[in-house]
Amino acid sequence: MKINWINKIKNRKKEDEQIILAEDTCLSVRNVSMSFSGLKVVTDVSFDIKEGEIFGLIGPNGAGKTTLFNCITQFYKPDNGSIFFRNNKNETINLINFPTHKIIRHGLVRTFQNVELIGDLSVIENVMVGAHIKYKYDFWGCLFGFSGAKKEEKRIEEEAEGVLKFIGLDDIKNQPVSSQPYGILKKIELARALMCDPKLIILDEPAAGMNEAETRELMNMIKIIRDEYKTTILLVEHDMKLVMGICDRICAISFGEVIAIGTPSQIKNNIKVQEAYLGVTK
Ligand SMILES: Nc1ncnc2c1ncn2[C@@H]1O[C@H](COP(=O)(O)OP(=O)(O)OP(=O)(O)O)[C@@H](O)[C@H]1O
Ligand SMILES: [Mg+2]
Repeated sequence: MKINWINKIKNRKKEDEQIILAEDTCLSVRNVSMSFSGLKVVTDVSFDIKEGEIFGLIGPNGAGKTTLFNCITQFYKPDNGSIFFRNNKNETINLINFPTHKIIRHGLVRTFQNVELIGDLSVIENVMVGAHIKYKYDFWGCLFGFSGAKKEEKRIEEEAEGVLKFIGLDDIKNQPVSSQPYGILKKIELARALMCDPKLIILDEPAAGMNEAETRELMNMIKIIRDEYKTTILLVEHDMKLVMGICDRICAISFGEVIAIGTPSQIKNNIKVQEAYLGVTK
């Protein structure tokens, strides 16, 4: 039984080695489906994201956006399909073949719809956690206070300070995260993601809990992150101003199926999108 499973993975890896993504493609989602107890919530979804693109995924509540994000990041193993990713070594990998904790090392990081931070730690400590993949020293090195471990900790702290300054949160760096409002927690998650040297950042509703001014600031920040950190960004967001204002292209889904892919103006004028997402009928 186990041998069959290992062979299946090996064969799949061999097939994947033959996959050649177009040079400008960062992520290729191909025919992904996912169901829970027989109920299909993502059906045969396919789209490609180009290197350096800000790509939006939109759809009504319950359309399957977070489930698709969970399939891409392997929190869920989809029932069908492949998800090819050009990783930070310029190799094409099928994410399906990797456990979720290994994906981050390939340069794919995410933030969560329901913020996932460590409440007992300070803002800067939470951001430093994002750099765990870069730590050379292990638990024992830190416990016994090896000088190399201390230097490494200092370097990562300085890096976290730089990221917090960039995000505009350096003045609250020593405060506990548990006392921060929701909009700030979303920004702290974004700062933590930047510590992982991301190639692709997946953001699930980054503007949730933010007022209009904060959302505008976030829009600019996402563009600057794309340019400064040379990343690709995939985001889910209900704030249409943000989505239409910063996305190069958008994929609209409804009841787990793709109904349109295009530029913001193509999506805005698409009848199916108007019917499904905006609740407008002609
Ligand atoms: N772990 C799960 N078990 C069973 N059903 C689930 C699970 N996760 C999601 N679902 C169902 O799948 C459907 C899609 O949910 P999902 O969270 O992906 O939607 P969404 O598009 O992200 O919605 P929202 O905009 O409200 O965040 C919903 O009907 C949801 O109840
Ligand atoms: Mg969701």
